[in-house]
Amino acid sequence: MPRVKQICCIGAGYVGGPTCAVIALKCPHIRVTIVDLNQARIDAWNSPDFNLPIYEPGLEDVVRKARGRNLFFSTDVDKGIRDADLIFVSVNTPTKKSGVGAGFAADLNYVELATRRIAATATSSKIVVEKSTVPCRTAESMRTILDANSKPNARFDILSNPEFLAEGTAIDDLFAPDRVLIGSLQTQEGKTACAALSEVYQNWVPKERILTVGLWSSELSKLAANAMLAQRISSINALSAICEATGANIAEVAHSIGQDSRIGPKFLRASVGFGGSCFQKDILNLVYLSESLNLKEVAEYWKQVVTMNEYQKRRFSKRVVDTLFNTITGKRIAVLGFAFKADTGDTRESAAITLIRDFQQEKALINVYDPQVESNQIWADLTEASPDMPLAAIQRQVFICPSALEACKNAEAVIIATEWAEFKTIDWQAVYAGMNKPAFVFDGRLLVDANKLRSIGFKVTVIGRGERL
Ligand code: NAI
Repeated sequence: MPRVKQICCIGAGYVGGPTCAVIALKCPHIRVTIVDLNQARIDAWNSPDFNLPIYEPGLEDVVRKARGRNLFFSTDVDKGIRDADLIFVSVNTPTKKSGVGAGFAADLNYVELATRRIAATATSSKIVVEKSTVPCRTAESMRTILDANSKPNARFDILSNPEFLAEGTAIDDLFAPDRVLIGSLQTQEGKTACAALSEVYQNWVPKERILTVGLWSSELSKLAANAMLAQRISSINALSAICEATGANIAEVAHSIGQDSRIGPKFLRASVGFGGSCFQKDILNLVYLSESLNLKEVAEYWKQVVTMNEYQKRRFSKRVVDTLFNTITGKRIAVLGFAFKADTGDTRESAAITLIRDFQQEKALINVYDPQVESNQIWADLTEASPDMPLAAIQRQVFICPSALEACKNAEAVIIATEWAEFKTIDWQAVYAGMNKPAFVFDGRLLVDANKLRSIGFKVTVIGRGERL
């Protein structure tokens, strides 16, 4: 079995960075180089004061321990490829914006470019590992490109090793994964390559947690896992709408059904809707795959998960407008949280973006506060969400504030859009004193103690709770 001595990871993003930093930490005998075309990102990974490009609890500590020892960040993609015996392809696979499959299919351009780079550069044999989330049978296309362009004596084995980390808990997830999944061709060479990657993980992951399966099962399992997780959120959110209409309480319903061991308690928290770079994109990808396989009913089934999510966001912003006497024109609304979830600075597909866009369209004034997201990112996201509006016009309506308290000053309503722990412990008495009355709170994350806030004087609306008690 070949022992892996040098790893290259192409793509220094939310997956490539943390995953390969943890591999370097846990495998001091392996030299790990993470490469990316984005100079600014690599500079941030290399910054002397560890001002890393990604916020993730525990990440800085990992990078401090391994960087310069056996962990390196570089823009020299070709050298990274040449030196490595195993290469992770961790590039982005966003939803296609134009052409065939636009709005659904994964854009595999970055995967293809990285694969072509490997073929053009490698002068010795490599194990090439799909870490990016890709549609079923992408490995086949990668192999065709590699085989057609490779040099003599350079053979490639392709593995699928999808990443299951969740942003916000990435380091804990990587230290103690529920499972590591490795897919390979069921040939002797495929199994040998699989064993080599498995050996890397066995430096810290118990062997029984390393699952080895066929290539196509591995690729599909990643899409399936995200589809099932998102489906649970849309299911509980659909029930939250019934709760609001009937006076049932979604927290009580979720607890009651979660006690059933067949259902389990996790991922049953109603919210303003899921976000993040993966759930929507991967489900749409599954929808596209199903349609291409002529499985219309299957495609429709999964598409509903995304439709329900959109409905939940729309329903929430409508509830805000309805509650504020059917108009928010000229009213100041404080939006607490901009990241798609707590403990990350990632804003991709964040529900806050949709809510703010809806409030902008209603001509409200919006104060935004997030503990991690940088102002530039907020402006970029809001500009993308309202392409017809120049940034200057957006900035006449939206204001970024340095604290939650500042954001709430003179507001008519506070919207909790992200479940940051610090929003639980805000001085709500002070918030109330600074707001216009009646002062409204809309909890889109089941985060605050609604009764406590009511006793201060707030009018509180909670997702999944009706007024008919
Ligand atoms: P990202 O956008 O944060 O990072 C991708 C990086 O790849 C970028 O920095 C980009 O500059 C770089 N890149 C693209 N093409 C390149 C090339 N040819 N050569 C060198 N660098 C190149 O994306 P993220 O979030 O890390 O996702 C990567 C993959 O992992 C995606 O397929 C995603 O679906 C999957 N995934 C993401 C998870 C997440 O929580 N973000 C979780 C599990 C899987």
